[in-house]
Amino acid sequence: MPDNGHNPYEPTPMHIIRAYFESNDNSLKTFELTFDDHKDCEAFFNKYNPGQFCQLSIFGKGEAPFGIASAAWEGDFVRFTVQKLGSFTKHIHTFKAGDPIGMRGPLGNGFPLKDWKGKNLVIIGGGCAFSTLYALTKHVHHPENRLDFDQLVVIYGARTSGLCMYKHDIQSWYQREDIEIHQAIDVPEEGWSHHVGYVPDVVKEVAPSPMNAVAVVCGPPIMTKYTLPTLVDLGFAPEDIFISLEKRMKCGIGKCGRCNIGSKYICKDGPVFSLAELQALPADI
Ligand SMILES: Cc1cc2nc3c(=O)[nH]c(=O)nc-3n(C[C@H](O)[C@H](O)[C@H](O)COP(=O)(O)OP(=O)(O)OC[C@H]3O[C@@H](n4cnc5c(N)ncnc54)[C@H](O)[C@@H]3O)c2cc1C
Ligand code: FES
Repeated sequence: MPDNGHNPYEPTPMHIIRAYFESNDNSLKTFELTFDDHKDCEAFFNKYNPGQFCQLSIFGKGEAPFGIASAAWEGDFVRFTVQKLGSFTKHIHTFKAGDPIGMRGPLGNGFPLKDWKGKNLVIIGGGCAFSTLYALTKHVHHPENRLDFDQLVVIYGARTSGLCMYKHDIQSWYQREDIEIHQAIDVPEEGWSHHVGYVPDVVKEVAPSPMNAVAVVCGPPIMTKYTLPTLVDLGFAPEDIFISLEKRMKCGIGKCGRCNIGSKYICKDGPVFSLAELQALPADI
């Protein structure tokens, strides 16, 4: 049983306050959820750390894990961006403002922000896995937190400009002197003035310095696979490279054994691991 005395499998009752498409092909939809009971809201924000995820649950349909895409300072709501893939995500895409939904979380460890104080952060994301990095960037650039960190470099790739998420906010990051933002798409498009190419190549081109820096990587497995050696080549130590892993999950709390790699449970010990930690585990990422 968790510290609040609730059954850990019982979803918190929530409802959707905003739902909108993120991508021009409607495959990515963002949902902002708020709490039916204010006590649940307090309990959530007492535990929430960027990089964590929740199990969203729909009565009669089941549950699925999604990374939290909002920072705590944004308000009493929790944001998720859902890519439409199979039956659960197709169903959730039919949801709109006012609809009730269940949520378990926050789950997992999140980013070790205390250990990163005073460091330069190099944030590297691809596709819809950028959601928790968006939350991380928003957390870091808030005036209350910004002085805890040094330089902030964000590299974010999507297949096409139409699939780039959080456009309005990211556009405003270009105006800030305290964020170095690099966006990329896979192939050239008319009107696109940023990088063109795959994320690992853009990382090579930007060549962030490893001096007093940590790098955080979230993206599809192929992007992660090629980005990690690129960071090592640039001089980042495996202890200073962090990866957020996605694996099939069920319980989300380290009980069912569905998500383990060796002795580690992605849901409970992760989803955020350093490359040094992963190198000590059986090859399975
Ligand atoms: C910690 C964590 C955070 C996540 N965050 C997000 C998020 O922010 N936004 C988002 O859209 N999705 C996220 N996912 C993935 C999401 O949970 C799955 O897409 C969802 O469960 C698919 O359910 P479905 O019934 O629609 O599709 P299914 O019918 O279950 O699967 C459809 C297709 O997607 C693939 N798939 C399903 N789950 C995963 C997975 N976990 N990893 C890789 N491929 C998968 C299947 O192999 C299949 O090809 C996250 C997963 C984890 C573990
Ligand atoms: S999902 Fe059950 S142990 Fe991780």
